[in-house]
Amino acid sequence: MKVKAIYPGSFDPITNGHIYIAERAAAIFDEVVVSVLLNERKTSAFSVEERCEMARESLAHVKNITVDSFNGLLVDYVHQKNAGVIIRGLRAMSDFEYEFQMALMNRQLAPEIETFFIVTDPKYSYVSSSSVREIFHFGGTVKDVVPSNVYERLKRLR
Ligand code: PNS
Repeated sequence: MKVKAIYPGSFDPITNGHIYIAERAAAIFDEVVVSVLLNERKTSAFSVEERCEMARESLAHVKNITVDSFNGLLVDYVHQKNAGVIIRGLRAMSDFEYEFQMALMNRQLAPEIETFFIVTDPKYSYVSSSSVREIFHFGGTVKDVVPSNVYERLKRLR
């Protein structure tokens, strides 16, 4: 039986840390869908189309990864895609509380869906989309923590 996994997130923008998690998930599951959340209640630096495009470009080298977007409840989307697993990355203990709560909420809503955590490489343990946006905004260098296509798009934001 083939197992499809959904890797959901805001990906605003996708970072090398996300790419690492997506690649590791793709080595375990038959199909991985990187799914960008379209959240009307949250303002984002990049549109959902741009976030999808950046993710597609940076993951084009992994054949069993596709990129999609979703809104509404994650578990509904997972059902709609006929997937069985939610992938989330863990960077530090500080991520754990939120992730644990989210996994339990999702299990309450859909007990048949499994949340699968993948631990990041220590070199990405401090990387987040929000810090990338902030550092870039104040003129710091983010070249080493995002793929080159994302870096180019960040420059266009200026
Ligand atoms: O990259 P993020 O912002 O940490 O990802 C959070 C995400 C998209 C996984 C989460 O906000 C989510 O699943 N949103 C969809 C709405 C939903 O299902 N909420 C209930 C989860 S407890």
